[in-house]
Amino acid sequence: MLRRLLAAGLFIAAGTLVEAVAETYDYIVVGSGPGGAPLAANLARAGYSVTLLEAGLDLGDNKNYSEIYNFIEAGNDEKSRWDFFVKHSEDEAREAKYEKTTWRTADGSFYVGLDPPEGSTRLGIYYPRAATLGGCAMHNGGICTLPNDADWDYIAEITDDDGWLASNMRKYFEKMEANEYLPPNTPGHGYDGYVNTTISDPSFMKQDSDFQKVASQLISHTGGDAGRDVNAADPDRDQATGVFGMASHADRNGKRAGTNTLLKKTLADPAKFNLTVQLETLVTRIIFNWEAGEPSATGVEVLRGSHQYEADPSYDAAKQGKSGRIFARKEVIIAGGSFNSPQILKLSGIGPAKELEKFHIPVVKDLGGVGENLGDNYEAGLQALASKPLNGSTGPFTVFLKTPTARKTRNIQAWCGSFSFEGFWPGFPAEYGPSQYECAIVHINPRSQAGYVRLRSNDPRQMPEINLNFFAEGGDEDLTELLDAVKTFRTALKSVDAPITPFNERHPCPGVNQSCTDEAQKEFIKLQSYSHHATSSCAIGPADDPMAVLDSKFRVHGVKNLRVVDASAFPKVPGAFPVCPTFMLAEKASADILAALAKAE
Ligand SMILES: Cc1cc2nc3c(=O)[nH]c(=O)nc-3n(C[C@H](O)[C@H](O)[C@H](O)COP(=O)(O)OP(=O)(O)OC[C@H]3O[C@@H](n4cnc5c(N)ncnc54)[C@H](O)[C@@H]3O)c2cc1C
Ligand SMILES: *[C@@H]1O[C@H](CO)[C@@H](O)[C@H](O)[C@H]1NC(C)=O
Ligand SMILES: *[C@@H]1O[C@H](CO)[C@@H](O)[C@H](O)[C@H]1NC(C)=O
Ligand SMILES: *[C@@H]1O[C@H](CO)[C@@H](O)[C@H](O)[C@H]1NC(C)=O
Ligand SMILES: *[C@@H]1O[C@H](CO)[C@@H](O)[C@H](O)[C@H]1NC(C)=O
Ligand SMILES: *[C@@H]1O[C@H](CO)[C@@H](O)[C@H](O)[C@H]1NC(C)=O
Repeated sequence: MLRRLLAAGLFIAAGTLVEAVAETYDYIVVGSGPGGAPLAANLARAGYSVTLLEAGLDLGDNKNYSEIYNFIEAGNDEKSRWDFFVKHSEDEAREAKYEKTTWRTADGSFYVGLDPPEGSTRLGIYYPRAATLGGCAMHNGGICTLPNDADWDYIAEITDDDGWLASNMRKYFEKMEANEYLPPNTPGHGYDGYVNTTISDPSFMKQDSDFQKVASQLISHTGGDAGRDVNAADPDRDQATGVFGMASHADRNGKRAGTNTLLKKTLADPAKFNLTVQLETLVTRIIFNWEAGEPSATGVEVLRGSHQYEADPSYDAAKQGKSGRIFARKEVIIAGGSFNSPQILKLSGIGPAKELEKFHIPVVKDLGGVGENLGDNYEAGLQALASKPLNGSTGPFTVFLKTPTARKTRNIQAWCGSFSFEGFWPGFPAEYGPSQYECAIVHINPRSQAGYVRLRSNDPRQMPEINLNFFAEGGDEDLTELLDAVKTFRTALKSVDAPITPFNERHPCPGVNQSCTDEAQKEFIKLQSYSHHATSSCAIGPADDPMAVLDSKFRVHGVKNLRVVDASAFPKVPGAFPVCPTFMLAEKASADILAALAKAE
């Protein structure tokens, strides 16, 4: 063992060496979100020793997280919060108009708005992430929607890996799903997996209520029905528009299912799988050897301790954790999410050489795409107040649209109900009382992915600089499509009978009768849109694409024994919502790794 470590080019003190020898596993998985958790569990279940390193704590038994309906409490809970602050563009004047801008006031608290008290520091646009066992799947809204089939087929096309075809990816969905809302054996669904799925209750449509009346108009304007299966294996699903039920990764008792529950089940399994979960362990760097003339990942450096990362509300720069090293016999797999995975790669010397040199990081592999190509769904909303308090059960449901200028597939997913979703800020969301109604609009097929995650320093505890560069390319078309969606929903709301109507719109065109120009509404959406589905900052692509970071089997180009398996791997935003697509991606990665091992044996 000693010889192997020395051959690996590691020059470490004797004390550390003892620790290093004690800490060797077949696989190291970094991050326990929907990318890392299934992968760690699958590899352990296949008989390998796996350690899963997670910066946060286990909050799986806390009701903020275990009950899906508490997702807003979870999102605001400082026990899991990682508070990121991002930009939407390089244009300072445009940034300065973002109404939910967050500031740090002189007394250390947050201020949200455009008129901060004197002495405040501008932080930017709040972007929540969860650092806890299970990742953002522990505080998210739980909406489980599969992308358009064309989104998977695109990856197959650019990589020549048929494993990415929608028809094959569906098998991974079937493996991971434990469907609780459809009759057994419904094609395209699974019943024995770890992601329990349920759908919003359509019975409110049988009530005599205000919400039923509004939903009826939305259905008559867009089609569909509130009980329709949003994840059906319909061969024409990419063109299917109108109202559907809203599927969630929660069981019929409202218990959140997926990452944390899978890990707990795996740890408790009588088969005693060799999975070690290490909490409050921040990975700071990947360790390499150069035995074969090219870099090969052999382990990671960590800081052990609570609140080690600057995004943590309890972070204290003076309280640095204990450093350590952990080694992998087979592979290191990074799954820190779209902001942290590129940061970890760059801190380790994998990224654009110029940027690394600026921070005196020795270049291990010059890969220009690391941290670039960051994409996100654009989000906006038609928000209005009815003329009376709305009664009945709000019955959230989802609506797909294909607006006139959409490219091949449907381009909008929305959901409607009695809520006010206007983006994120510390303490989100807003609340406008019992007459509030919103159709929250998600552009699932954005034309631009010009965002980036770049280092601010070589300190692994410090947050990177994140700029989503919204609407940088094809922005006018995407804004038109968002506005067309607004118009569809506005027309439907206007056709509801009094006394529910007239609706007094709050945005994008305030008032009872709309006289705003299209340009004015697009400008409003451009300035005030938001997002929370970041992907694609370590994109899969062919080796001859200079911006590709990963091959089709998630291996970092030009580096051995290193993969990235999380939402950062999608070369394009996976239309719809990313959490279930990321579970599927983790299943594909598990299958790829196990298939290669089987071939080698
Ligand atoms: C408020 C909110 C609501 C959302 N709602 C939905 C929704 O309804 N439906 C949907 O589909 N998607 C939703 N999403 C998005 C979805 O949850 C994410 O896309 C998904 O969780 C991404 O998975 P991931 O594995 O890539 O990363 P993450 O879930 O971010 O997991 C990464 C994990 O890695 C850990 N980590 C990071 N860096 C390190 C390090 N250096 N060392 C150790 N550990 C590290 C983190 O602590 C975290 O646990 C939502 C997101 C947010 C923020
Ligand atoms: C689990 O893996 C660790 C690290 O590789 C090893 O030391 C230990 O012996 C394994 N345990 C079992 C029961 O195989
Ligand atoms: C749940 O989160 C809220 C913040 O949203 C926090 O005040 C509360 O203490 C948390 N509850 C538990 C049980 O941790
Ligand atoms: C999910 O389904 C399984 C059975 O398939 C059940 O044991 C479990 O309690 C359900 N809920 C969660 C949150 O896992
Ligand atoms: C809602 O109010 C209407 C009268 O405006 C009434 O007919 C209906 O029964 C109410 N529905 C519910 C579910 O309370
Ligand atoms: C809105 O338009 C309607 C119909 O044209 C009209 O009766 C009403 O007075 C207008 N309301 C306002 C506030 O302008």
